[in-house]
Amino acid sequence: MKNWKVNSWRKYPVKHVPEYSDKKVLDQVLDKIKTFPPLVFAGETRHLKQQLSEVVDGKAFLLQGGDCAESFAEFNPDNIRDTFKVILQMSLVLTYSASLPVIKLGRIAGQFAKPRSAPTEKKGDLELPSYLGDNVNGIEFSEKARKHDPKRLFKAYSQSASTLNLLRAFSHGGFADLKKVHTWNLGYIKKSPQAKKFKDLEDKIADALAFMDACGINSEFNRRLKTVNFWTSHEALHLPFEESMTRVDSTTGEYHATSAHFVWIGDRTRQLDGGHVEYCRGIENPIGIKCGPTSKADEIVKICNLINPQNEKGKITLISRFGHDSVEKYLPKLIRGVKKEGVNVIWSCDPMHGNTIQSTTGYKTRRFNNVLKEVKDVFAVHQSEGSYAGGLHIEMTGQNVTECTGGAKNIQDQDLSSRYHTHCDPRLNADQALELAFLISDEIKKNSSYSKNAIQAAS
Ligand code: PEP
Ligand code: CO
Repeated sequence: MKNWKVNSWRKYPVKHVPEYSDKKVLDQVLDKIKTFPPLVFAGETRHLKQQLSEVVDGKAFLLQGGDCAESFAEFNPDNIRDTFKVILQMSLVLTYSASLPVIKLGRIAGQFAKPRSAPTEKKGDLELPSYLGDNVNGIEFSEKARKHDPKRLFKAYSQSASTLNLLRAFSHGGFADLKKVHTWNLGYIKKSPQAKKFKDLEDKIADALAFMDACGINSEFNRRLKTVNFWTSHEALHLPFEESMTRVDSTTGEYHATSAHFVWIGDRTRQLDGGHVEYCRGIENPIGIKCGPTSKADEIVKICNLINPQNEKGKITLISRFGHDSVEKYLPKLIRGVKKEGVNVIWSCDPMHGNTIQSTTGYKTRRFNNVLKEVKDVFAVHQSEGSYAGGLHIEMTGQNVTECTGGAKNIQDQDLSSRYHTHCDPRLNADQALELAFLISDEIKKNSSYSKNAIQAAS
């Protein structure tokens, strides 16, 4: 790797990296974190990258989801369990209906730092620094809470470690046994229209499992029916923290971000000559790159080449987030530009970040129909361009929140206040997330013949 060091990003301009007034304390904190155990291991990250290469070839689907921002206040085992459950249920819908393996990637166990549209927030006469995520400052609107405090990084590390510990236990300790997953029902989903669809699926899966059991294939003898691979991801925004969690893999000598298996570069920090791209080009992890209306195809190709000079499959995921009425305007050009240069990428769709609006009642929200429309348009564009829509990136929770309007329960602007808990952007609740999974499995089924043909033709 030419001229790359774990701290070479410091020589480049960076956006959205928090400033700290007490640099000495920050350095002490970072020096300490450098001595902490890694959260994930290089071998796991390599395994994920290998699985992701299957998505590039149209043989698997990537499902990435979780909170916009994790918080210290919402940190509890039920929240972790329910997010895990919904991601597993969504992937069950996709795996069964679309007959594709689903790679399960949480926005979890480290998704704290947030880029904000303005550096300060004003209420009345008082102007304070914006909330930048619980690992930087507090959400309360007070001078004390909004002060950037480096020691919050310790708490974020520790919360990530405990979250990951529970996720590992759920994934491998019997909780995720296929025999049980299809019968899970999150209490409040039982009453929703998704429940009927899920019940039908449950019956079909029960039949399939009974048949397999009769053939001697069951979770007692086959570990794969009893465990899942569940990976973690977050935006690699807080570069000082990421630097302190970057380690050399002793078996290969390569650098790995050990804060998560997968990290992504946000829409506001993907400058070709910026520190975030510089940091990401030196680590072995799979990298996501958000692409928005301001992304130019040639620039995205240059970023891909810089981060992935070997054009390794599974290394880069382009996460498009244009907004429900702009997909046709921007996505075809991007796909063509990337294809022309033969760059290997996974195409994932983030139908959330281009669809954030202010509700009539003053809440930041997203209309579920707009989310659905963006997903449908993305599938349609990929179909006409002969490329494979291989992933979904969403902000969701297993809790019964009222943050996005619409969906089966038809949440209205007036309902948003009843259970609006997010620390940043509005999330889909479990109902809405499952509805989306059913829609996507239909789209994949519809498109599967074209994508296989397209991929065969291209290879
Ligand atoms: C996010 O994923 O939370 C985010 C800030 O997205 P984007 O960079 O696409 O705006
Ligand atoms: Co967000």
